[in-house]
Amino acid sequence: MCGIFGIVTNEENLNIGNNVFEGIKRLEYRGYDSCGIVYIANKKLFVKKDSGKIDEIHKKLKLNEFPNGSKLALAHTRWATHGPPTKINSHPQLDCNNKIAVVHNGILENFFELKEELISKGHVFKSETDTEIIPHLIEENLNTHGNLKEAVVSAIKKCKGAFALAICHADYPDTIIVVRRESPLVLGIAKNTTYCASDIPAFLKYTRKCYILDDDELAILRPNSVEFFNIMSEKRIENKKLMTIDWNIGAAEKEGYDHFMLKEIYEEPMALRRTMKIPTESLKEFSESLINAEHIYITAAGTSFYASLAGKFIVTKFLGKYIEAIECSEFKTQLDNCLEDNSVIIAVSQSGETIDLIEPIRWAKKYNPSVKILSITNIVGSTLTRHSDQVLITQAGPEIGVAATKTYVSQVLTLALVALEIAKLRKKLSNEEIQKYYEALQSVPDIIENFLEKNVDLIKYIVKNLEKNLNFFFLARGASIATAKEGGLKLKEVACRFIEGYSAAHAKHGPISLVREGYPIIFIAPPDETYERLVGNVMEFKARGGKIISLVVESDVKITNLSDITIRIPQPEDKYHSLFSSITFIPALQLLAYYAALEHNLDPDKPLNLAKTVTVH
Ligand code: F6R
Repeated sequence: MCGIFGIVTNEENLNIGNNVFEGIKRLEYRGYDSCGIVYIANKKLFVKKDSGKIDEIHKKLKLNEFPNGSKLALAHTRWATHGPPTKINSHPQLDCNNKIAVVHNGILENFFELKEELISKGHVFKSETDTEIIPHLIEENLNTHGNLKEAVVSAIKKCKGAFALAICHADYPDTIIVVRRESPLVLGIAKNTTYCASDIPAFLKYTRKCYILDDDELAILRPNSVEFFNIMSEKRIENKKLMTIDWNIGAAEKEGYDHFMLKEIYEEPMALRRTMKIPTESLKEFSESLINAEHIYITAAGTSFYASLAGKFIVTKFLGKYIEAIECSEFKTQLDNCLEDNSVIIAVSQSGETIDLIEPIRWAKKYNPSVKILSITNIVGSTLTRHSDQVLITQAGPEIGVAATKTYVSQVLTLALVALEIAKLRKKLSNEEIQKYYEALQSVPDIIENFLEKNVDLIKYIVKNLEKNLNFFFLARGASIATAKEGGLKLKEVACRFIEGYSAAHAKHGPISLVREGYPIIFIAPPDETYERLVGNVMEFKARGGKIISLVVESDVKITNLSDITIRIPQPEDKYHSLFSSITFIPALQLLAYYAALEHNLDPDKPLNLAKTVTVH
């Protein structure tokens, strides 16, 4: 939540304005309530900021126009927490003398106490933000310390909470100081230019070399150098590892698509083919931990939680043990007092930064240090990876659309790979059977590719058909309940429609009372062990006048005959392929959500009130 971007350079020909504008645009998916940029020139700060989306503000304020001689800029895109999205609450926030500027992602928990203390010392606050504490604290400290780094360190030592901060001072036009605790921050290293950002794609166009800041680290950025310190010990950190990122910039551009969401749906086959190459050694280690565990939990938020529900279904098939799925925000409440030895927690997160997940993981390790954390994430070096005993990295590439799509299928695929590795290790199936499952899994990217090539017009037709229905159900049984729930979440997020994913069996215990003549119900109906019973559920809804739209495989007959419209997934009708239907059936629902958003004139890349990476409680 909130994106921060900074650049300090001594490159003669670099247009700092365009560079910082592009950088902050690439972070807009993290929050888009308001935005601001500060430049330094002639020992003065030049601030442009307002509420609204970046393009709207840019039209008014020309965010990329910078004062002559400026070689440093910081920018921020906000997802409001403390104080509404107004110009005054936008970042950067400044001190009393307009010398110090701060951009912030996170929440300062003790800001009331600090604010009162600072006011009593004569500081005047202009905004309602927690962030404004920081420039005033630094200003106060500079009276006694004189040295900017020391003033920042003692300010940070007073702060409680989560933060990634980028700080500049008008008298130091070649220096940015950044600090991190719990909120993500990465540094990009290019020739004569250093960047800081909330996320790697922000500077990927300029460099692939980066440092990932750890908790309680401070870095001093200059055009040709970066120095690292630990905030608590104040000691210099030597030998910080410079990483090379193998994403290319195309991955963070729309490349001709109207929206990132659509592009990322079409990237699913590629994301899956890459994820299929997770090293066998890592899969083996992960799988052995599950085989040896006594209690297994899987936890995540939002889409990642539904991927966990789908994936755990596949894993349990071969593991022969129950896996308890718990939404991460409930994890601690439910397991307080009963997280036993020999437990394993599988934590699933696209960003690896979701605070609702990081917090229970930290708690679990503290509560019972014998607990093993196994994580699945898309981001190398993310906070989650640093709290994990074993990590599997999905290879979806950067996901910019706020609604998760390609990372969802990559997460389910990763769990499917774990499942097959477990099948191999446990030797409960013949090699021939296992081989057939592998072949089916390997065909998944082709099935999706094939589907996406041929079905867009049908999906658009269905969207038009459903246009007047503000709410309806996705119904399914077994593993496909996860698909139904994820499909419902996508429509809620991007199309602002209350669409509920529900168990088809359970629907008769309540939701069926909503059905009238013409009421639409979308059934997710792969030919798995639940199919025959689902036929019965379809009939129950049809008998009450429901309009039946169903997702079936190409050769399907029974549910097809009961349906008004079918969406046909080009996959063979056998148990091997059916096991992976939670991957092959979801793109249809993602596309449905995408075109429903367009139908209602909504921007699917910027759903109302959402931000991609949730770093506040
Ligand atoms: C939905 C969506 C969110 C995230 C959730 C967890 O499209 O993107 O529901 O899935 O906030 O985020 P990660 O996976 O980064 O932990």
